[in-house]
Amino acid sequence: MSKVRSLMPAWNHVGSTINYPTMPSQSMGEWQAYLEFIETYFRNRGIKKPLIVEIGIGRGRQKLFYEDILGYDHIGIDHKRPRKPDIRGNSRDPATLNKLKNKLNGREVNLLYIDGRHTYSGVKADYKLYSPLAKNIIVIHDIVFKDHEDTVGEFWEELICQAKKRKIQDRTFIVLIGFYTKRDKKVKSFGPGVGLILLEEMSS
Ligand SMILES: C[S@@+](CC[C@H](N)C(=O)[O-])C[C@H]1O[C@@H](n2cnc3c(N)ncnc32)[C@H](O)[C@@H]1O
Repeated sequence: MSKVRSLMPAWNHVGSTINYPTMPSQSMGEWQAYLEFIETYFRNRGIKKPLIVEIGIGRGRQKLFYEDILGYDHIGIDHKRPRKPDIRGNSRDPATLNKLKNKLNGREVNLLYIDGRHTYSGVKADYKLYSPLAKNIIVIHDIVFKDHEDTVGEFWEELICQAKKRKIQDRTFIVLIGFYTKRDKKVKSFGPGVGLILLEEMSS
């Protein structure tokens, strides 16, 4: 039995984890599928203690899943002190990247989770700075946010176009689609949420 599956709350029709005190602010379907996927992915590849770096930690609830449930390592970055991040700073400030590099001390980041500033330029800047550190998976959250013009989804599509132009299969794109709800528990939208990019090493 998957550790994640046994610890998720019972499925509900609202489909959101937002009102569970120990859960991150995600769609229930998306969050369960995402955790089950990475749990299986790392187990299949024999990566016993992957390191996750999360940019934008919100209420800091993802750490619980990675560290306490899955036994992974986790470093959270956020610019707001009350979030209690492991590294506090604006993700776009090179000083924040340097703090992360010092903490890593040469260790690879197995999964980079980008969930900070939800704009085209915000996510692009985070991707440019931090993606070179990622070894196995890059996750971009909220790849469509319909209430903004300047969306994370635009950047996601740009990444796919770039991959198509390169004409080499060095990465695989996966999108988890579900219902997304806000704090009033009403279903607000149905659409893409988490985008995963699986990185493959190319043999020459
Ligand atoms: C949507 S929340 C993250 C939710 C969290 N990943 C989760 O799953 O529960 C976005 C977070 O990004 C942080 N943030 C926004 N812009 C940032 C920036 N430029 N640098 C660092 N953190 C940022 C905010 O303070 C907030 O905590």
